Amino acid sequence: MPAALEPLPTTLDYAALDAEALKERILRRKAELNAVILGHNYQRIEIQEVSDYLGDSLGLSQEAAATDADVIVFCGVHFMAETAKVLSPEKTVLMPDLRAGCPMADFVTGEALRRLKEQHPDAAVVAYVNSTAEVKALSDICCTSSNAVEVVESIPRDRPIIFVPDRNLARYVEERTGRDNIIAWDGYCYVHDDLVLDELARARAAHPEARVVVHPEARKDLLDEADFVTSTSGMVRLAEEHDALIIGTERGLVDRLKQRFPHKTLIPLSGAAICGNMKMNTLAKLAWCLDHEEHRVELDEEVRAGAERALRAMLELSGGWRSATEEEEALELAGVRPRGCGCA
Ligand code: 13P
Ligand code: SF4
Repeated sequence: MPAALEPLPTTLDYAALDAEALKERILRRKAELNAVILGHNYQRIEIQEVSDYLGDSLGLSQEAAATDADVIVFCGVHFMAETAKVLSPEKTVLMPDLRAGCPMADFVTGEALRRLKEQHPDAAVVAYVNSTAEVKALSDICCTSSNAVEVVESIPRDRPIIFVPDRNLARYVEERTGRDNIIAWDGYCYVHDDLVLDELARARAAHPEARVVVHPEARKDLLDEADFVTSTSGMVRLAEEHDALIIGTERGLVDRLKQRFPHKTLIPLSGAAICGNMKMNTLAKLAWCLDHEEHRVELDEEVRAGAERALRAMLELSGGWRSATEEEEALELAGVRPRGCGCA
């Protein structure tokens, strides 16, 4: 391995380096730490280029549960890094910028959810992964945009469901499952909730041959117009299959797809759909984060264990997690088998 490079004091010192120098530092340091870089589909392209695994929330949480790296560097938003820590508590989980939060996750606090649960003591609580670990710990099961329908269908039809925090995803799931007993929290994602029919009409007029795919965090009127409703990784799969798509989600994903398929017609439904929170992560901050082994994501153990229960319930259903067998549990206790490698 080449000689280690001296860490620089601040992120500004890293920002003064060019992209190639930053990438070289990142790759070297990653090898030294036995780290894995998990990147969400909305990350800047240069971050996506150095990520070991790119995906949607479900894929990233499955990867966080399965990795044998010692350090997980999460390039996404805070709830995603928290999820990695919940599923891999013995690992160091780092974020390039701790301020990269998800405003939708902040719509619901543990205290407010406790109050709603008191009003509906019989209800099951489904927490979209875009929520804090504290909220997950108060929930029965988590879901992501790719398995929300499946998760809700796993709950007896006559049992009411409190669904937090995304009202749009809740309404979509209600329609898909034909249920009328979902109590939806009034949260939303500012990026997807702002997508409007006017923009879709303009994109369609300019590209009549294109099919339309929209993320389920968008409003119902838009989802009703879409040919497909799916998660960000579902959109990647559709772009592999189709020559012309209008894509209703954060445009970082569309930019990457356009780079990968330059001859296809891949149109962002809105050029303004940018998640500023996701874009807080930069190559300079990522290099700083690896060199300094900061910022660490830490969780209170009671909260972590509660959130793990709800996430595990989801992963078991989605085939991404299986509970340890008795033999594996014994090996874990003896320290022979690492904890948390339950990915099926
Ligand atoms: P995905 O799980 O579809 O990647 O969505 C996460 C997210 O935050 C979308 O805004
Ligand atoms: Fe949160 Fe919306 Fe950004 Fe996704 S796009 S991380 S839901 S603010």
